[in-house]
Amino acid sequence: MKSQTVVVMVLLICCSASSGDESETLLSFKRSSIDVDPNGSLSDWTPSSRNSCSWTGVACDSGHVTALRLGRLGLVGRLRIDDLMPLRELRDVDLSWNSFYGNLSHGGADNCGFVAVDLSGNNFSEAVTGGFFSGCGRLAELNLSRNSVPGGIHPFSASLRRLDLSQNRISDELSGRLGDLSRCANLVALDLSRNAISGGFPETLGSVSLPALRVFNLSHNNLSGLARCANLEELDVSRNALAGPVPSLPGGLARLVRISLAGNRFVGTVPPDLSRLCWSLRELDLSDNLIEGGLPSTFNSCSSLETLNLGHNYLSKVNTISSVVSTMTSLKSLFMPFKKLTGSLQVPLRALANCTNLEALDLSANEFTGNIPTGFCTSVPKLKKLLLADNLLSGAVSPEIGKCTGLESVDFSFNGLEGPIPTEVWSLPRLADLVMWANNLSGEIPTRSARTASWLSRHLSSTTTQSTGKSRRRSGNQRISRSDTPDPHRAIRADRARTRDRVQESVRVAAKRGWDGVPGHGRAV
Ligand SMILES: *[C@@H]1O[C@H](CO)[C@@H](O)[C@H](O)[C@H]1NC(C)=O
Ligand SMILES: *[C@@H]1O[C@H](CO)[C@@H](O)[C@H](O)[C@H]1NC(C)=O
Ligand SMILES: *[C@@H]1O[C@H](CO)[C@@H](O)[C@H](O)[C@H]1NC(C)=O
Ligand SMILES: *[C@@H]1O[C@H](CO)[C@@H](O)[C@H](O)[C@H]1NC(C)=O
Ligand SMILES: *[C@@H]1O[C@H](CO)[C@@H](O)[C@H](O)[C@H]1NC(C)=O
Ligand SMILES: *[C@@H]1O[C@H](CO)[C@@H](O)[C@H](O)[C@H]1NC(C)=O
Ligand SMILES: *[C@@H]1O[C@H](CO)[C@@H](O)[C@H](O)[C@H]1NC(C)=O
Ligand SMILES: *[C@@H]1O[C@H](CO)[C@@H](O)[C@H](O)[C@H]1NC(C)=O
Repeated sequence: MKSQTVVVMVLLICCSASSGDESETLLSFKRSSIDVDPNGSLSDWTPSSRNSCSWTGVACDSGHVTALRLGRLGLVGRLRIDDLMPLRELRDVDLSWNSFYGNLSHGGADNCGFVAVDLSGNNFSEAVTGGFFSGCGRLAELNLSRNSVPGGIHPFSASLRRLDLSQNRISDELSGRLGDLSRCANLVALDLSRNAISGGFPETLGSVSLPALRVFNLSHNNLSGLARCANLEELDVSRNALAGPVPSLPGGLARLVRISLAGNRFVGTVPPDLSRLCWSLRELDLSDNLIEGGLPSTFNSCSSLETLNLGHNYLSKVNTISSVVSTMTSLKSLFMPFKKLTGSLQVPLRALANCTNLEALDLSANEFTGNIPTGFCTSVPKLKKLLLADNLLSGAVSPEIGKCTGLESVDFSFNGLEGPIPTEVWSLPRLADLVMWANNLSGEIPTRSARTASWLSRHLSSTTTQSTGKSRRRSGNQRISRSDTPDPHRAIRADRARTRDRVQESVRVAAKRGWDGVPGHGRAV
């Protein structure tokens, strides 16, 4: 017995050695870093299996390990990633969505060949200390997103192009140790969103130190100052603690394509100088601030702008907004909900007649009056989304809505619309979301299925809905009909906030199933 065991052991040593040192390196990584493998995913990583290139998650080129893809296997262990560094051809390491933990201090000594490392979605909770990956002179992409790293960023290799540190617990001041990133002269994309980074912006981080940076995401932090990186194309500082007047942004940011200042505490009016971004800007998001007034006429012919979000502010000058917006002929999405806009709906809709690329229009929760103008769709043939809910609209829904053949999503709910639901609605070929309840609309719902008809009657009309075969009078929704309360608008708004999501969800589900219950058939017949 004893001599047989010896023979077997000799064989194992002989064979693993004969398939190269790379198998042994992988096995040693498995021993050092993986304590739990719940599904036995790596059970084929054994000394007796000769060809490590056929092991789970291992990819080779010319007999050398080039990639390790061990994402989402439920692996648990204290990671010693330096144990993989002897694999000289290993470029791509994906250990994402496991439960690796440990400190991120090792790995500096060796000269590793890693190019892309994904450690996102693990359980790292210790600070990144000096030396982590500093020996990886070719490292271009590092993803540490969705861990609990508390900060402590130290110099990474100057080769780094993309760094994702989003969704951690980094609480450093931006001017503090994060400044060490300034060594990364080739960094193109930096994501620091969803941390607890506070403070202002150091003048040095940016034009001087991160000359290549194009995409900078700082959303969901606690910043009190704004980035000034000269070559930025995308800057997201939404949901921070930025306050004071809306910045007119220095000329240094003249290449911006996309900027979000949403969800801060900016006050005052939109500065005319902000329009200096117009020649490159495609997306401007100023929503969810405390901004007043209108849109300055300097934005006239802001001709590259495709998405403009001014919602949830105190903007009130509908005329200046309309006259300026009407000149933005490349506009695809205009969001202006929850503002104090008043007056006839005709004004903004007529003004948009030259925005022939418009795909989404959200004017909900304002105080627009009058009826939905006819002929609107003829000028905006690409319109997919028309959200006019929670205004003071009256009159009938024109059969001309049938000309908006691109419509996918319509919300006219919580208005004072009355009369029949035009049958043309049911032949809109792409319609998936239709919310028209809390009005005084009635109409025939052409459907083969009485079940769907009763479902529709609950969601489309607050008082009367007739359907083929059945005629029913609703009572359930009357509590939210406009005439029932002294201040219907306020009551409606409150009720709407509670119910809208739920209703839309059911509309969506039903639309997916098809109005008549046939899967995938999203239209009425
Ligand atoms: C392990 O296997 C079970 C059953 O096949 C599966 O439900 C589970 O998602 C797997 N877990 C991982 C981490 O792959
Ligand atoms: C990191 O962990 C290793 C053990 O895995 C330990 O030897 C080392 O001292 C730790 N370093 C720091 C900075 O905590
Ligand atoms: C980082 O990983 C997360 C989660 O796996 C992923 O959503 C994100 O897109 C990755 N970031 C980059 C820059 O690839
Ligand atoms: C993640 O780390 C925390 C402590 O940092 C620990 O309590 C938890 O059990 C770890 N989760 C897993 C899945 O290892
Ligand atoms: C920035 O990050 C947030 C949250 O991580 C994400 O929702 C947002 O889309 C990102 N912004 C950009 C411009 O990619
Ligand atoms: C945000 O930063 C301020 C200082 O700028 C600090 O007083 C406050 O505690 C921070 N808030 C959070 C939630 O970190
Ligand atoms: C649309 O453009 C035409 C031609 O440039 C112009 O005459 C008209 O006034 C514009 N309409 C609106 C509503 O801006
Ligand atoms: C609803 O419209 C009908 C006519 O179509 C009208 O008689 C009725 O008074 C309206 N109800 C409300 C609450 O406005």
